[in-house]
Amino acid sequence: MKKIGIIYGPLKGDTEKVAFKIASEMGKENVELLPVKETTEEDIKRLDKIIFGVATIGKDTWDSDHKNTDWDDFLPKLRKMDLTGKTVAMFGLGDNITYATLFVDALGVLGKEVMKIGAKLVGHVSTEGYEFKDSKAIIDGKFIGLPVNEDYESHLTDERVKNWVAKLRPEFGLYQ
Ligand SMILES: Cc1cc2nc3c(=O)[nH]c(=O)nc-3n(C[C@H](O)[C@H](O)[C@H](O)COP(=O)(O)O)c2cc1C
Repeated sequence: MKKIGIIYGPLKGDTEKVAFKIASEMGKENVELLPVKETTEEDIKRLDKIIFGVATIGKDTWDSDHKNTDWDDFLPKLRKMDLTGKTVAMFGLGDNITYATLFVDALGVLGKEVMKIGAKLVGHVSTEGYEFKDSKAIIDGKFIGLPVNEDYESHLTDERVKNWVAKLRPEFGLYQ
């Protein structure tokens, strides 16, 4: 079986921690962990199944003057790629208290870009159990990917990851 690529950034914080948790839950032998700042177009071409992980750091998430998420360099390159035929899921780190009106916005921004370039986006999540005022990550009443809140709801992360991965298994060709 071809490996599932977990492409994530930034490194060394909550996003990386959650990327590792998802990898463990999927089975490390099934997964390849790739920091987004090391990811090339060749990687994207050879991976049919991809999980993108991103943290929302305000508008700076995409601003090339602020190199703090690693996505700012990759997104312009990704926009020029073709993800037709690929299955993609996404997770996003955010904080629902300090940024209640911008909760996990980067997940929505990235998700829309990924859909534009032809990917089949899976792993949508109900808003039930999340408290927030507004989020760009909601499409048709659901989060476009998995929101994870290590700032205020870290006690829920393991369960959220477990439930999400269970739903992704058939989409990603993983059988228990
Ligand atoms: C400067 C700054 C801006 C942030 N802006 C947002 C935001 O707009 N929306 C949100 O949901 N979280 C926001 N957050 C919270 C982060 O997404 C959250 O702390 C995340 O866990 C950080 O992940 P990391 O440790 O991988 O960097 C912000 C955090 C910082 C430090």
